[in-house]
Amino acid sequence: MKALILVGGYGTRLRPLTLSTPKPLVDFCNKPILLHQLEALVKKAGVNHVILAVSYMSEMLEKEMKEQELRLGIRISLSHEQEPLGTAGPLALARELLTENSDPFFVLNSDIICDFPFAAMAQFHQHHGQEGTIVVTKVEEPSKYGVVVSEADTGRIHRFVEKPQVFVSNKINAGMYIFSPSVLQRIQLQPTSIEKEIFPVMAKQGQLYAMELPGFWMDIGQPKDFLTGMCLFLQSLRQTQPERLYSGPGIVGNVLVDPSARIGQNCIIGPNVSLGPGVVVEDGVCIKRCTVLRGAHIRSHSWLDSCIVGWSSRVGQWVRMENVTVLGEDVIVGDELYLNGASVLPHKSIGESVPEPRIIM
Ligand code: GDD
Ligand code: MG
Repeated sequence: MKALILVGGYGTRLRPLTLSTPKPLVDFCNKPILLHQLEALVKKAGVNHVILAVSYMSEMLEKEMKEQELRLGIRISLSHEQEPLGTAGPLALARELLTENSDPFFVLNSDIICDFPFAAMAQFHQHHGQEGTIVVTKVEEPSKYGVVVSEADTGRIHRFVEKPQVFVSNKINAGMYIFSPSVLQRIQLQPTSIEKEIFPVMAKQGQLYAMELPGFWMDIGQPKDFLTGMCLFLQSLRQTQPERLYSGPGIVGNVLVDPSARIGQNCIIGPNVSLGPGVVVEDGVCIKRCTVLRGAHIRSHSWLDSCIVGWSSRVGQWVRMENVTVLGEDVIVGDELYLNGASVLPHKSIGESVPEPRIIM
């Protein structure tokens, strides 16, 4: 089987991280977001050809994907857009690759995390026999997503409304689809939104079905949700692969630590922390609900809650950072500062506290 992953878009909501790395390559729980998806496609559905629909920063992706082709033993094609084609246009651009055989194919948003149900999707799709299947999940704030009204017993979708202004339903599009090749007849080679222009029509014609997702799900395309997604993912690791979590003195709850990270004396790490490769945490540091990316260094006695620390950033001594503070790549935070909801662009040095949420450029 084949899969197309939508990896375009500028990832603006995940800035400042996406100023140095395309969103799908940002590490989530110590693995690029895209790799979580690729590995699940291969393992759960036997996918052997993945098409990445890209519209920017593709050099980095190309290099990384060459390595993954070898490691996973699959074919990975990059389908480059001259201009962003939205969420449907890329399917038309990749038409030839998608129709090399007549099998249905997967389409994924590249910023979602869950226990990917690919095998069940293929089965469900075959069972109802219509053109498209989308995976749905229930959320408390449906207005941020595509909302679905479907029949409880069959899954047949009656309505699809992208980001509705008024309440329609709390069942939302989880960003994972499986389509029969005939769907390509609906899509022109031009910027097109699958959610606004294609799904509503398919729903009206009875060609779109919803499969409910069991378990956790999160769109991790913004920092606040990225951290919530991390908590959910670590909790699911606790249930399925507890051996991957870290334990030791000062470790509280679900914590992921790369083997090359170093933690000093008298620290409290957790709950819900992920420390990337080469991270150094000095003595007496307290970190909870944070992601610390590769090569970052946290100096002694600092206190971090709900933050993302970018690649190779340095946080001084006795710093306090909280409230979804995000440091881009290679940021330096001076000693004894307080950062509250700050969003700091790559390569900045911070010498003063940031008491209110704002962007530091
Ligand atoms: N190749 C390509 N070209 N990909 C694109 C483009 C483009 O022009 N624009 C967006 N994408 C990719 C993004 O990288 C992402 O993987 C996916 O399409 C969806 O775009 P987002 O910008 O993340 O959309 P969203 O989060 O607001 O909403 C979408 O996802 C929700 C679930 O997370 C919609 O599909 C909603 O219906 C859905 O509920
Ligand atoms: Mg998204």
